[in-house]
Amino acid sequence: MLEEAIRSEPNASPFDESHIGKTELINQYRIDLRHYSEKEYNKFVTMNTVKDWSQLTWKDVRKPYEVKTYSKDRITWEKNHAKEMDPHTSWTFFNKAFHEWFQKDVPAEMQEAKKQFFSSIRSFKPSQVKQALGDVVKIQLWNYVHRMQDGIWDPRGKRALFEGLDVKHPRILFLGAAEGYEAMQLAAMYPEAEVVMVDYDEYCKTTRFADFPDSYPFLGENPATGSQKIYYKNDFNIEYVVDDIRNLDYGKEFDIVLSVGLLEHFPDEYKHEVVDWHRKFLKDGGYVVMTTPRSQVRSKLYYQIMADVMNHTYRELMTVEQMGLYMYENGLDILRHGYIKVHNGIIAKPR
Ligand SMILES: C[S@@+](CC[C@H](N)C(=O)[O-])C[C@H]1O[C@@H](n2cnc3c(N)ncnc32)[C@H](O)[C@@H]1O
Repeated sequence: MLEEAIRSEPNASPFDESHIGKTELINQYRIDLRHYSEKEYNKFVTMNTVKDWSQLTWKDVRKPYEVKTYSKDRITWEKNHAKEMDPHTSWTFFNKAFHEWFQKDVPAEMQEAKKQFFSSIRSFKPSQVKQALGDVVKIQLWNYVHRMQDGIWDPRGKRALFEGLDVKHPRILFLGAAEGYEAMQLAAMYPEAEVVMVDYDEYCKTTRFADFPDSYPFLGENPATGSQKIYYKNDFNIEYVVDDIRNLDYGKEFDIVLSVGLLEHFPDEYKHEVVDWHRKFLKDGGYVVMTTPRSQVRSKLYYQIMADVMNHTYRELMTVEQMGLYMYENGLDILRHGYIKVHNGIIAKPR
């Protein structure tokens, strides 16, 4: 039913209120218009495991896990240039590689990968068999993590994490915005928002954000009635700035400053600077919203298997306690913390 709607109006607004509550898989991703009841809330977000942040120490929580398996592209680049790949270049590699996976027709590629695997067996060449088997595992994993489980976008988990902020038509700043998903989800929940997305990789504006499907529905609030409403990318007021976060010269003018998967890409000596980026442009009383990938066995395995797609940059996996301690000791009070499918999430305010 949802797929039919999207097929008949791929570039417009295919869904109406009658679709709310439904979910369906299409070839690239899951369309998810299910909300959660109060009873279900705890299924999508696990909240507030720490009672008193001032009592937590690094000895208690230990340091994050560093992912050390790098992509072939990074390894080859470093060999050819005889130096370490700089962060900006590594992000351009990452964004291209990651974006390609969002574009895939997953069922067709799973079929093709299987076909290639069987033909590699007939070749009797171990390197070909290994490569083909690796491709089968990767596409199966992508199908499970992104398409079926919706672990990357996780709209219900994100909504559970983002709900209840005391803001009206907020100005939202998204640092390291990539395709901009989470700012759009916030803008649906807090209508008439003004969003500024910032990323220094131009490809994020011209391709990752530009190609983000116009027909993808974000479930949010109808300000006129207080009931649920479906929004699309083109409903939002978004300015996309291509620049280094360190060059931004905004004043304290944002109600929400957001990042998703940024903090864990900086070794400890830079963490205070990254936390400071979030505080710097906040209005008094504004919120910092931050998420980072969780440190769990299945995530470690995921980054191992998907290294060629995901690991061009320095990367840590952390627990929500580790993430919170970085924020707390750098001057933020933690209002809400928890984890959703694959990310930790924290809502904080400057102390
Ligand atoms: C890991 S990505 C964010 C994850 C994102 N949700 C995704 O799906 O890829 C981090 C983004 O931050 C950007 N970034 C990193 N350092 C930056 C800086 N100093 N200034 C601006 N953008 C930066 C990168 O280009 C990248 O697109």
